[in-house]
Amino acid sequence: MCPLAAGGDWPAASAEPRKRVPSGRGTYSRDPHSRREGCRSSFQALRAHQRFTMRKFGLLSKALPKLQTKNVPGEHTSFMNELALERKPSILRELMKNHATASKNVVFIGEGLPHPETIPFSEVSFTLKDGTKKVFTGSELVTAINYLPTQGNPKLVQKLREFMDRFHAPLRWEDRDVIATAGSQDGLSKVIEMSLQKGDAIVVADPVYSGLASNVRPYKAQLISAQYRKNGLDTVEMKDKLTAIWSSRSKDVKIPKILYINPVANNPSGHVISDEQKREIYEIACEFNLLVLEDDPYYFLGFQDELPKSFLSMDTENRVVRFDSFSKIFGGGLRAGWMTGPKEIVRIVEMHMQVSVLHASSLTQAIVLQILEEQGWDGFLDYTKNVKEFYRKRRDQMVALADKYLTGLAEWDVPEGGMFLWVKVKGVSDVLAMVMERGLKKDVMLIPGHAFMSDPTKPCPYIRLSYSLVPMEDVEKAMQRLAELIKEEQAIESQK
Ligand SMILES: Cc1ncc(COP(=O)(O)O)c(C=O)c1O
Repeated sequence: MCPLAAGGDWPAASAEPRKRVPSGRGTYSRDPHSRREGCRSSFQALRAHQRFTMRKFGLLSKALPKLQTKNVPGEHTSFMNELALERKPSILRELMKNHATASKNVVFIGEGLPHPETIPFSEVSFTLKDGTKKVFTGSELVTAINYLPTQGNPKLVQKLREFMDRFHAPLRWEDRDVIATAGSQDGLSKVIEMSLQKGDAIVVADPVYSGLASNVRPYKAQLISAQYRKNGLDTVEMKDKLTAIWSSRSKDVKIPKILYINPVANNPSGHVISDEQKREIYEIACEFNLLVLEDDPYYFLGFQDELPKSFLSMDTENRVVRFDSFSKIFGGGLRAGWMTGPKEIVRIVEMHMQVSVLHASSLTQAIVLQILEEQGWDGFLDYTKNVKEFYRKRRDQMVALADKYLTGLAEWDVPEGGMFLWVKVKGVSDVLAMVMERGLKKDVMLIPGHAFMSDPTKPCPYIRLSYSLVPMEDVEKAMQRLAELIKEEQAIESQK
């Protein structure tokens, strides 16, 4: 009998990745994240684990009628840490959510919303570039500036579901949910906080988005990385590393629960993972029971003609959490994004937000909703194509400047999307002093590659340049200075 089912601790033991079961969601052959043995099937293990955690964390306590006051752990419990399982819904926030959908007859005399008469605005307006002007007054103004349910403005939440169905294949909403966040980073960091424990391992593509690397650093997380190469991400390397970890009998090696990936226009390398490779990676995630964190703020900025297929759209096992963002298409300072994924995971993030930001900005949500309604889906697609073309032109201009000034001094791949040129400096083993000291003296600022490395303390010859904003005349000046800087650095290095 599974020891946990009897209320005992798991013994240290070995585990093996499951053979892919082609049908059925979440039919894990074992619960792999701890080296548990003795259970006939992982389904049993998982259910036992759920009962155990529910008992242990008091989740079987009484619920108020019609009000969700308990966390509902299900088949994603094994991706959650103890902190996440301790989360309980906020009664206030849950009541507010209920009120938003209650009958008009309900008089809610408990809510603490400031009265609209006391706010300094009589209207809020904005104008789109095509001249369309939107004015929020009356009840629209109240919605735009007062508190909202944590999941978001109900109309926007509905719109986001439509968005997902349209761009990521119709989703089974019985299993999934969506929540408005303050940008993709907000949801991402909360899912990391839901899952990681000190010393956990996490699978990433190398180089990795600095926001993720910094986020997992306090957990002393071990990054298991697969490299981007000429023909894409090295999935063989990824699988080999995972197989080695699974086959290792060492207690020190933790089996990873999470695969983080920034698939379109990877920040910083500019690579786009092909649909075919995504399928391979998804297979690996299923085989090694990984929760896939698909961080895709540049989804509309991949320079290929067709929109890519997302991991979420191929997710038959409900193991993908997708983070979307309006930052790169409507403005980063709006802090507007959303997260879509397994219901239970969205719920954990919702409960986290209930006690952190309460909800993403109401005004921002109202603005974004208005833009989407104004554009319609076809208009939105045309709009994003123009944004993509804008950056594609700038990419070409920057690459031409790199060809002109950096040939022989550095090497790079032409970015397949996004905003960045990822450059490997030749003859300089570590660019840190070059960038942080000597570069500043030459009036050129760049990002040292260390920020995107699994181990930022190691020497790194990469730099990240951006073509998103700086006028091309200034980019040209910077490239000239960079060329001089590299030559000087190479001379210093040759004297070492
Ligand atoms: C890969 C990646 N993820 C997340 C973010 C953060 O996006 P947001 O503004 O939506 O939080 C960025 C921003 O640069 C990014 O490059």
